[in-house]
Amino acid sequence: MTASPQRAAEFAGDEVGRHETLNSISANHSTAPAESSFLPGPVLLLGAPGVGKGTQAQLLVTKYGIPQISTGDLLRGNIARGTQLGMQAQQIMSTGKLVDDSLVNQMVLARLHEKDTRRGYILDGYPRTLDQARFLDATLADLALAPNLPVVAISILVDFDQLLQRITGRRICPVCKSIYNVHSNPPAIAGRCNVDGTHLIQRPDDTEAVFIQRMKTFAEQTAPVVSHYRALGRFQEVDGDQSVESVIAAIEASLLRLRQAAHQQLTTSN
Ligand code: AP5
Repeated sequence: MTASPQRAAEFAGDEVGRHETLNSISANHSTAPAESSFLPGPVLLLGAPGVGKGTQAQLLVTKYGIPQISTGDLLRGNIARGTQLGMQAQQIMSTGKLVDDSLVNQMVLARLHEKDTRRGYILDGYPRTLDQARFLDATLADLALAPNLPVVAISILVDFDQLLQRITGRRICPVCKSIYNVHSNPPAIAGRCNVDGTHLIQRPDDTEAVFIQRMKTFAEQTAPVVSHYRALGRFQEVDGDQSVESVIAAIEASLLRLRQAAHQQLTTSN
């Protein structure tokens, strides 16, 4: 089912100009003055591999000026730098299983202490186990990390067949991390990043076989995390099987509703 890189590149070439690229969508979502005072706070983007967490997180970064904290990207950064953590993570990631909770928790904790998280942040791909969720809840409660707003969680839903097509068609820029898809969001020049011209790559875990294992891991270990945040409230589901623009619009509407509800809860209890 996986398209060969050559065929994929040809397909991408065929499609040039027929699809709006993520970067042009992103440009349309630059911070609007009316919304610049909105404080997003901590946002969890939950969902199976390929639902669009990274794509949507990049748009939220542009819109609200808050950082994306992707544990997958942090781990891949460690692999690229050849750190001990990277060496431990590489083999696990190539099989579609999860890296140890303690390693990931410490990596996230260090990142949350950086100054750019003050207005909020988007956690993309974390927490992924109930232990990680409990660690995050306890950390945020204990450390009173700024911004002192409760976490809100958004879960993106897409069906299996669509996910498989997205995962096997994904290409990424190893330099600026822009995300493309040979089917739905090809670069302007086949195989090259629109932003910096770098050769696009395919992630080693974006094969059909590893995807199937990642989906099993999601069902066994991450679905309970979705249930955990659903039960806590401050949770919304978004249909991810629509255009990137429609998904970001639904996420922003959910975010506003969740923040308003949390604010009302706080004022009622005071
Ligand atoms: P990670 O990098 O987090 O991968 P993932 O969760 O499997 O998610 P993906 O990055 O694959 O997908 P996405 O939802 O971000 O989709 P994207 O926007 O790119 O994790 C990788 C590995 O690291 C794990 O397997 C694990 O080993 C380890 N790891 C990471 N975090 C961990 C943790 N907390 N604990 C333990 N281990 C951890 O979109 C996908 C494609 O679809 C793209 O091509 C995009 O262009 C396209 N697309 C997006 N939106 C749309 C749309 N609306 N319509 C059509 N196409 C779309």
